[in-house]
Amino acid sequence: MNILLIGGSTGIGLEIAKQLAKKNKVIVASRNKGGLNDDIEHFEFDVLKDNITDLELPDEIHGLVYCPGSINLKPFKMLKQKDFEEEMNLNFFSLVKVIQSLLPKLKNAENSSLVFFSTVAVKVGMPFHTGIAAAKGAIEGFAKSLAAEYAPKIRVNVIAPSLTDTPLAEKLLSNDSKKEKMSERHPLKRVGTAKDIANVAAFLLSDENSWITGQIIGIDGGLSTLNIS
Ligand SMILES: NC(=O)c1ccc[n+]([C@@H]2O[C@H](COP(=O)([O-])OP(=O)(O)OC[C@H]3O[C@@H](n4cnc5c(N)ncnc54)[C@H](OP(=O)(O)O)[C@@H]3O)[C@@H](O)[C@H]2O)c1
Repeated sequence: MNILLIGGSTGIGLEIAKQLAKKNKVIVASRNKGGLNDDIEHFEFDVLKDNITDLELPDEIHGLVYCPGSINLKPFKMLKQKDFEEEMNLNFFSLVKVIQSLLPKLKNAENSSLVFFSTVAVKVGMPFHTGIAAAKGAIEGFAKSLAAEYAPKIRVNVIAPSLTDTPLAEKLLSNDSKKEKMSERHPLKRVGTAKDIANVAAFLLSDENSWITGQIIGIDGGLSTLNIS
């Protein structure tokens, strides 16, 4: 299968790339090469500036994962319209542009599977998350509607992680005391790893699991569904 990762140089995307490269052709489009080995094809690509159609991609794309995201946590009163626009541009509008541009290649494949990322903060209201919750909420609605419109040919699912130890979450996990506090908030008493999330993305991309679409899957140590305090 040809799997395209938008983002895949660090964090969850990098872990997905490593896992899937064993059995698939994986192509990563991101600004930097990051931790990618030479056996994974990489295109320099900025989703905010570049057109995905300018890259030399295969005619058929069987799997697509959109990784770019943000964690800009601020009180609502400090956020400007521009901050909301930036969150929407990176998380949502650029995703829409990529999918619109790649539709012909996704349709060329007999079946294809798309995986997007949301956040636990869409299902559970959390202070200081208005910007990111709004942008990721847009992804969830978009994904469900897209899944309905393109069934049975294209499957679309969303993973909604809680705090996961990647470069994106560095500031929130920068010392042992923060890590312990964040771990304690989760019923499963730890934060996520890139592998926790990548495993589920790989599962959703696989043909073996081709009866799953339109789902928002919380991989969050139980945070969105359990109250054990
Ligand atoms: N980590 C968490 O705690 C957490 C929690 C909830 C949801 N999520 C979501 O999970 C997804 C993956 O996050 P992560 O933690 O793996 O983050 P990460 O380590 O920062 O990885 C993000 C990837 O996206 C790429 N990227 C960012 N901006 C880009 C741009 N303008 N153009 C092209 N590629 C770009 C980065 O590559 P380059 O920098 O090389 O371009 C990188 O490969 C995100 O959507 C995030 O919102 C993460």
